[in-house]
Amino acid sequence: MSLPAPQPDETVLVTGASAGIGTELARELARRGHGLVLVARRRERLDELAAQLRDAHRVDVLVHDCDLAQSDERAALIEAVQSSGKHVAGLCNNAGYGSFGRLWELDREREAAMVQLNCVALVDLTGAFLPAMVQRGAGAVLQVGSLAGYQPSPWNATYSATKAFVQSFGESVAGELAGTGVSMTVLCPGPVATEFAEEAGVDDVAATLPGFLMQDARTVARAGVEGMLSGKRVVFTGLPHRITAQAGRITPRTALLPIVNRIGRRTLADR
Ligand SMILES: NC(=O)c1ccc[n+]([C@@H]2O[C@H](COP(=O)([O-])OP(=O)(O)OC[C@H]3O[C@@H](n4cnc5c(N)ncnc54)[C@H](OP(=O)(O)O)[C@@H]3O)[C@@H](O)[C@H]2O)c1
Repeated sequence: MSLPAPQPDETVLVTGASAGIGTELARELARRGHGLVLVARRRERLDELAAQLRDAHRVDVLVHDCDLAQSDERAALIEAVQSSGKHVAGLCNNAGYGSFGRLWELDREREAAMVQLNCVALVDLTGAFLPAMVQRGAGAVLQVGSLAGYQPSPWNATYSATKAFVQSFGESVAGELAGTGVSMTVLCPGPVATEFAEEAGVDDVAATLPGFLMQDARTVARAGVEGMLSGKRVVFTGLPHRITAQAGRITPRTALLPIVNRIGRRTLADR
């Protein structure tokens, strides 16, 4: 089983819906008739997107602004959704950010908050909504990982480690879900043209990864939703992405680390 067909009493929760891949996930799901809960911190953007989607697709859209890195705000979100009368048929754990630089020169609190958002919030929301999906025997979870999760990445240490966590967590729980009617998909994009690079303090995200991997958010979101629909365990957004991931996995670290290190140093010199 995978993401069930849209029903009036069901919804799909998308985190990080105020920008980039999350906005496009919401558009792709609404286009297919799914009701939505849109989550991020920037309320105005969420309200604007919700109005557009209601108008264009006649779907039910709820908006909840919160900082997902804060456990009390996550608890309030979970409570609000669970008391909304809607079943969560789908969950897209997409909200996330990165940083760029040597670990000891980066903002310590921001690095720790990244782990809270990219990992802890993802585990928490999955844990909150999965039991009801399993009980109903239907549902789909999309965990947004990254090609960065396939190898250690100097200059991106915390971020690549969080995405390695997402990869392992997502694939592990996907195994546990076999036979339950619920699927879990890890989406593994390469560089995507969004606000991500600016947030990470890099002018050009393509500078941190080979440019031929660059894609737009809509292409990536569509691949993610199609992965949820077909209940795939892992989704790469193109053949070059699949090959890059496998290369990252099998290349000996003694050969790989100097290459990634060189790319990182060049990017830092450019800014
Ligand atoms: N862009 C890339 O190159 C790339 C590549 C691979 C994987 N990814 C992954 O794709 C996902 C989406 O990234 P994107 O490229 O679409 O980045 P983006 O354009 O910067 O969007 C990030 C989203 O996350 C939300 N967010 C950030 N911090 C939050 C917090 N504390 N609480 C709640 N929401 C928060 C932001 O909304 P607010 O600021 O309004 O809260 C925004 O909606 C991330 O998990 C990222 O790691 C991106």
